[in-house]
Formats: sequence, structure tokens, C-alpha cells
Amino acid sequence: MDILKIIKEKETSRKYKKKAISKAIVNDIIESAVWGPSVHGKQPWRFVFVRDNSVLKKIANYLLIESEKKGAGANILLHQCSDVVAQCGLVVLAYTNGDFIKMVKRLTPSYGAIGKVTELSSASAAIQNMVLTAESRGVSSCWFAVPLLCAKGLNEIAGEKDVELMALVAFGYSSERTRRTKRKDYSQIIKEI
Ligand SMILES: Cc1cc2nc3c(=O)[nH]c(=O)nc-3n(C[C@H](O)[C@H](O)[C@H](O)COP(=O)(O)O)c2cc1C
Repeated sequence: MDILKIIKEKETSRKYKKKAISKAIVNDIIESAVWGPSVHGKQPWRFVFVRDNSVLKKIANYLLIESEKKGAGANILLHQCSDVVAQCGLVVLAYTNGDFIKMVKRLTPSYGAIGKVTELSSASAAIQNMVLTAESRGVSSCWFAVPLLCAKGLNEIAGEKDVELMALVAFGYSSERTRRTKRKDYSQIIKEI
């Protein structure tokens, strides 16, 4: 399918059928992340793939408990994320690992100011590769930032340390069509000079 068509038709799904994603599709998603662009080719990322139902349930329960401790707004969003994790077939916890930041601090301290943003940009590009690859294989997704509010506990569940959580991405077979967000008028955001 044409890449622009996939981009424009891709839904952000928050309701999923309880249906497993095949290992072949998961492997394609992994490959698309690995082949993403990264700052100086440093690949300053790490991805934890969770398909095991008992671990998905553990993450969902943890997010639910945390949602009850948060104030208005965050509580609803965390609760919604918990529901999605409980239904979906795959969760990817995306991290930056600080490799590029460490390298520039050592070699060119003046370049250090762009370390953080470039690591996040690299991991974001890998996530978008995963999302589009999944979509091309009929698998929907939702990119979540709200779980960063309880990154410490998620890292413990994932067995990760010395890395920084930058997203939780849920993948699965959507059970309802979601309306796309209306896009801003091009004149507001695009300038051609
Ligand atoms: C960096 C980032 C963080 C996001 N965090 C959340 C989130 O915490 N909860 C959520 O429901 N959706 C989250 N989303 C999904 C957006 O809400 C979604 O992309 C937006 O509504 C546009 O949807 P559409 O592209 O399907 O039209 C996030 C998306 C991005 C790129």
C-alpha cells in the first residue's frame, strides 16, 4: 500500500479485540524500529516488547492503581491507558539509553545541549516506523505518554534500569473505528519560502 495512504488512514485505536498478534508481524515491527534513523547512527534506544498476557495484566493493574493516586485529568488518562493495555495484543515500552549523551559529553561537550532532544527524536522515529509497519499489516496502535507519570514502577515490571522511558505503545486489532483528529489548516503550520 502507498505510504501516504497508510499515514492518512492510520487510526489511533483505544479499543481492541482480544486477539494475538502473530510472531511474524511482531518481527516486522521489531525490524522497522531497528532500521529507524538515529543521531550519529548511535541507536540510543531500547524497546521492551510485551506479549505475555500475565505481564500485560500486571502492567494494566499497575496503571490502574497509579491512576487512583493521581489528580483530575491524569487519573482518567491513566485509567484509559490501563484499559487499553488489558485488551491489546502487544505493548512496547520505548526508552532512550543515554548512549549519545554520554558520547558527546566525552568528545564534544559543546554539542551536549542537543543530546537529549536528539535521543528522543531518534526513538520517536523508531516508534513511528513501528506504528506504520503495524498499520500496513492491519494492526492498529496507540502511542501513550501518560504512563511516563509512573515510569519507575513500569521499569521495575520490565526489569529495566539506567534507561529513560519515553513512551508506551499499544498494538492490536481495533474493535471500533476511531475518528481522526481534524488537522490544522496547512496555512497555519506550513510556510514555503
Ligand atoms: C508523543 C505522543 C504522546 C501521546 N500520548 C497519548 C496519551 O498519553 N494518551 C492517549 O490517549 N493518546 C496519546 N497520544 C495519541 C494522540 O492522542 C493521537 O495521536 C492524536 O489524538 C491524533 O490522533 P490521530 O492521528 O489518530 O488523528 C499520543 C501521541 C503522541 C505522538
